[in-house]
Amino acid sequence: LKIAVLVSGGGTNLQAVMDAIDDQTITNTKIEVVISNNKNAYALERAAKKGIPNLCISPKDFADRAEFNRVFLEKLNSYHVDLVVLAGFLVVIPPEMIAEYKNKIINIHPSLIPSFCGTGYYGLKVHEGVLERGVKVTGATVHFVDEGTDTGPIILQKAVEVQSDDTPEILQRRVMEEAEWKILPQAIDLIANDRVVVEDHKTRIR
Ligand code: GRF
Repeated sequence: LKIAVLVSGGGTNLQAVMDAIDDQTITNTKIEVVISNNKNAYALERAAKKGIPNLCISPKDFADRAEFNRVFLEKLNSYHVDLVVLAGFLVVIPPEMIAEYKNKIINIHPSLIPSFCGTGYYGLKVHEGVLERGVKVTGATVHFVDEGTDTGPIILQKAVEVQSDDTPEILQRRVMEEAEWKILPQAIDLIANDRVVVEDHKTRIR
């Protein structure tokens, strides 16, 4: 499976995927390219250290969003990947890209969708919402990306306990360590081995 990983920040999910490929937790998979919208994303350094092609394409570099969308998609298409992995990518995916890569884009979201998701819920804001609401269990979700925000078919989820003295930062770290860095590699391996079937906006693992 040839994959592109789209990142915006620290790249700990990218690192988990690279490590999982190295230790064969993920089989039959190669990261063809890492693309970021943020030239300072440490994720790009992580890719460079592994000798993985990486580049930055930012909406800021274009006259308007339509131009960015066009160039972004053209660049991505040049790598001929089978799967696009959003790992903390904070740019809205162009509608044209959703259409061209139907059920070929996956995203990791740091909550148990449909809770604490949708516009406004990203990064620490997700965990602030979890603590504010006082839920006892949170977690992470890997899902296919469709036209909505965090609304595509769910592939894998993993629950994480909320502890009474959690701060958003402590909770974010636990959700990453205990859930994100596990289910994102797992989902990629399932897809690489053709074990995820999409039926009626839901998935079945075979
Ligand atoms: C994390 O909060 C993750 O839950 C979400 O975006 C952030 C990405 O972190 N997908 P990193 O860049 O993978 O470290």
